This record gives sequence, C-alpha cells and structure tokens, in this order.
Amino acid sequence: MLSSFFLLPLAALSVSSHVIHARDNATAGADDFITFDPVPIYEQGPKIGKEGYVIEQFGDGCYMVTDGSYQSLVVVSDKGTIVVDNPPSLGPKLLYAIGNLTSQPVTHVIYSHSHTDHIGGVALFPSTAQTIAHKETDEQLLEAPDKNRPRPKKTFKKDYKLKVGNQTLQLSYKGENHVRGNIFIYVPKPKVLMVVDIIFPGWTPFARLGQVKNVPGFVRAHDQILDYDFKAYVGGHIWRSGNRTDVEVQKEYMTDLIRVCNDTLSLSATDDPFLSGFKILNGSYTKNPGNGWAFFKTYNDRTASYAAKKMNEKWRSRLPGSDVFQEGNAETMIESLRIDYGFLGPFGLH
Ligand SMILES: *[C@@H]1O[C@H](CO)[C@@H](O)[C@H](O)[C@H]1NC(C)=O
Ligand SMILES: *[C@@H]1O[C@H](CO)[C@@H](O)[C@H](O)[C@H]1NC(C)=O
Ligand SMILES: *[C@@H]1O[C@H](CO)[C@@H](O)[C@H](O)[C@H]1NC(C)=O
Ligand SMILES: *[C@@H]1O[C@H](CO)[C@@H](O)[C@H](O)[C@H]1NC(C)=O
Ligand SMILES: *[C@@H]1O[C@H](CO)[C@@H](O)[C@H](O)[C@H]1NC(C)=O
Ligand SMILES: [Zn+2]
Repeated sequence: MLSSFFLLPLAALSVSSHVIHARDNATAGADDFITFDPVPIYEQGPKIGKEGYVIEQFGDGCYMVTDGSYQSLVVVSDKGTIVVDNPPSLGPKLLYAIGNLTSQPVTHVIYSHSHTDHIGGVALFPSTAQTIAHKETDEQLLEAPDKNRPRPKKTFKKDYKLKVGNQTLQLSYKGENHVRGNIFIYVPKPKVLMVVDIIFPGWTPFARLGQVKNVPGFVRAHDQILDYDFKAYVGGHIWRSGNRTDVEVQKEYMTDLIRVCNDTLSLSATDDPFLSGFKILNGSYTKNPGNGWAFFKTYNDRTASYAAKKMNEKWRSRLPGSDVFQEGNAETMIESLRIDYGFLGPFGLH
C-alpha cells in the first residue's frame, strides 16, 4: 500500500528514500515490501538441503559450515576438534555437521568477537571444551552477561598460538574495527583466514558498514587482511568464502566510498542548492524553530542520499545489495569523516 511509504522531498531531485512505518493492528501484504534489484544467480548461493547447512572444504582438516547466512570454521586435529563461533542460526545443526565430519570431540571453541549473532550457540558445545577469546570480548560479556555466551576460560591480548595435535591456529588482535575484541584467526597449513564482519565476499557491506563501531579500524582491516598469505577468507556471513580478489574489490569499494563521501562533504560547504549546509540550516530552522535535530536529520539524509547515488553509478551493477544498504553505508562514512577523520565540511572551525 502506497500509504505506508513516503518519498522525502529529495524525490524532487530524483533521489528517493523509502521509509516503512510499523503499523498497529496490521499484517504486511505483498505490496508492503520493496522490490530491490535482483541478485545474480551465483551470489544467491546453493540450495540448502533438509539438514540445513552446507560445508566448504579447504583441505588439511579445515572446513567452513554455513546455513547460507552465517558461517563457522571447523578445524579437525588428531587430538580433538577446534571450532570458531556458533551462530544461533546454525546452533545444533553445527554439532550434527561436525559429528558427520569427524569422531574427534569438540575440545576448543574460539569466539571471533562478542556479538551474539555469531557466538550465541557456543553454549551447546561440551562444557569441558576450552573456550578462547580476546580480553576485550570477555569484558563485553562481563558487562552484558548472557548464558548463551559464557565468558571465555582463556583470554589473550595480542597474539595467541593454539596448538592442538597436528593443527596450529594463529590468533591475533590488531585493535578495534567492527567491534573491540574482534580477532584475526589464521590456519597456516590450508592458508585460511577468518575475520568476521569485515569483508562480505561478493556483496555490498551489510547495513552501516556491517554495524561498525570503529570506521578507521574497519578501513585499516582491509590492508591487515591483505597482509596475510591466504587462499580462503571466512567472513562469517553469506554462503561462501572469499578470496584475495573479493577483499580487493571491497577495498576498492571503500576507497570509492571515502572519496565520494568526502567530495559530498566538500560540496555541502559550497552554496549548492541541495547540499549547502548553511542553506539547509537556515531552511530547516525557519520551518522547525529551535529544532537542531531536524536540521541534522535533513543534512544527514541529503548528503547520504547524494553520496549513495554517486556510489551506485558504479557499484549497483557490481555488488548486489548496493541499492539496499548504500545510503546507510554512506551516512556512516560521512559521519566518520566528520567526527573521526576531522573533516567537518561547512561546520568546521572558521
Ligand atoms: C590432522 O589430523 C586430522 C585428523 O586425523 C586430519 O583430518 C587433518 O588432515 C590433519 N591436518 C594436518 C594439517 O595435518
Ligand atoms: C549427521 O547428520 C544427521 C542429519 O543432519 C544427524 O541426524 C546425525 O545426528 C548426524 N550425526 C552425528 C554423529 O552428529
Ligand atoms: C575469487 O572468487 C570469485 C568468486 O567465487 C571467482 O569468480 C574468482 O575467479 C576467484 N579469484 C581467484 C583469483 O581465485
Ligand atoms: C577530505 O577532503 C579534505 C578537503 O579536500 C581533505 O583535506 C581531506 O584530506 C580529505 N579526507 C580524506 C579522508 O580523504
Ligand atoms: C533563510 O530562509 C528564509 C526562508 O526560506 C529566507 O527567506 C532567507 O532569505 C534565508 N536566509 C539566508 C541567509 O539564506
Ligand atoms: Zn558482529
């Protein structure tokens, strides 16, 4: 129903923004869903059978298990099995997958980071298993206790080498990126690197750059990933692993996003009729006296939709999901350029 959408004034400049309002006492009909760009067949992923997961093999006893949306890493040694993460969407299915891969019990569980959508199923593993996470992940689990995410028994600060039987994993912390405590997990023999919620192979980064907490750290992580000698990258999301090309493509995307958003901020410091910060300030305050939030909302929406439109000229045909999340990604980057990188556009020190 059209009444559940409205086009912001931006539509006048052929930039549309879709906003859906939750309605009371109503169920959504087919017309209440936005039709986004179709996804190429390959990036739609494989058919997931009744067991609810598929397995990707990297060799040397290293596997990725995915339900098509989330991912875990399984490393089988001759003295037990090591697992990284158990997203609740996999949950018990991951235990079946492991049970069908090996008779070695799960002896070690690594938490990639604190977020429950990736580790909310770890309590299903045997309580005898050693659990390992970064110290700052433990601090977050202490701040918000959750029985589905028991605090790790072992923590580390910088680097940690885990040797179990014939397998070695190198865990490393390089500072806050997606969230603090998010670690790099490297399996040297098969050259598999897992870093969660940074690279989204084949796809536009998820909402607000993967709900990033530290944009400069997130940007830096692209080069830190490329510093590794890896054959396969496990990002925690979507159905498939990535390779160097996937990481390089997202790095190019980020380089473009930074440039486009920075240019948009520069433009907002001119007398551009649509983007001029001072024109928006004056117009918004005239209409909404004393309402500073109204001004910022209009400024953020206009700069984000302008930058997203510029980005999509190139990326809409290259990465699925561009039309879904480009605007939020642009808003996140513009805000970071302002407050992290210190480029305040029209509202800096004069
Ligand atoms: C380690 O042992 C497991 C179980 O026997 C085997 O599947 C795996 O290929 C071995 N990996 C390495 C790196 O030797
Ligand atoms: C293997 O997978 C099947 C089907 O998903 C499951 O029912 C069975 O319990 C699994 N086997 C083990 C040993 O986990
Ligand atoms: C990387 O993965 C993509 C997508 O699966 C594939 O098209 C491409 O050929 C791969 N590149 C290399 C260098 O393996
Ligand atoms: C953004 O643009 C300003 C002005 O041209 C420039 O000084 C700054 O270095 C740019 N920042 C980034 C992160 O590119
Ligand atoms: C501010 O906005 C009002 C109302 O739209 C307009 O009349 C006025 O000229 C504007 N002032 C400046 C300095 O742009
Ligand atoms: Zn996360």
